[in-house]
Amino acid sequence: MQMDIQEIAGQIDQRGYIVLEKLLADTMLDRLYARCQHDDPSRFNAAQIGRGSAKQRISSVRGDAISWLTDMHPADAAYLSFMEELRLGLNERLFLGLFDYECHYAIYEKGMGYAKHTDVLSGKKNRVLSTVLYLNEGWKESDGGELVLYDSQDAILETVAPRYGTMIIFLSEHFPHEVLISQNTRRSIAGWFRISGS
Ligand code: OGA
Ligand code: MN
Repeated sequence: MQMDIQEIAGQIDQRGYIVLEKLLADTMLDRLYARCQHDDPSRFNAAQIGRGSAKQRISSVRGDAISWLTDMHPADAAYLSFMEELRLGLNERLFLGLFDYECHYAIYEKGMGYAKHTDVLSGKKNRVLSTVLYLNEGWKESDGGELVLYDSQDAILETVAPRYGTMIIFLSEHFPHEVLISQNTRRSIAGWFRISGS
């Protein structure tokens, strides 16, 4: 698969993030979209906030339902192996020490969003680089659900519509962000490259 890792690494190095309109092939996007469905209710769970015993569900803060990708499923495995290639390419060019990658499908139903937060939690296996791939065909401005990325002074850096095939990659620690209330069912894959933990 063709991927300009040089360009991705360069922008992450210079600005800390990059928005890519179309990184993945349509066939891959279509297979991922097919997996990002509530068809099997036991596969998706309401997302929680916090870690360990502090975990809780507050849908007004975070309203998505999630399902982790697994190597056991061919469509998931194809995406995980694509992201593995990206991990190795970035490690060659940047000194981030990316150790592994984890990601989940996320579905926000109409009326849901995710309040402003950063992706770094306390703990050992920490998140260094966040990625979000959007899977919404025909997304309209009136559908809302944009990702808003802020700088450390709380100024808006970027507003990203969750359009089919768009991917954003950003340094987890540096950019508070939020998902504006969605007026339509909003599908994505959120993932994190992490440093090694014990
Ligand atoms: C997250 C997140 C952003 C998005 O899951 O942590 O910030 O645009 N997602 O879905
Ligand atoms: Mn986040």
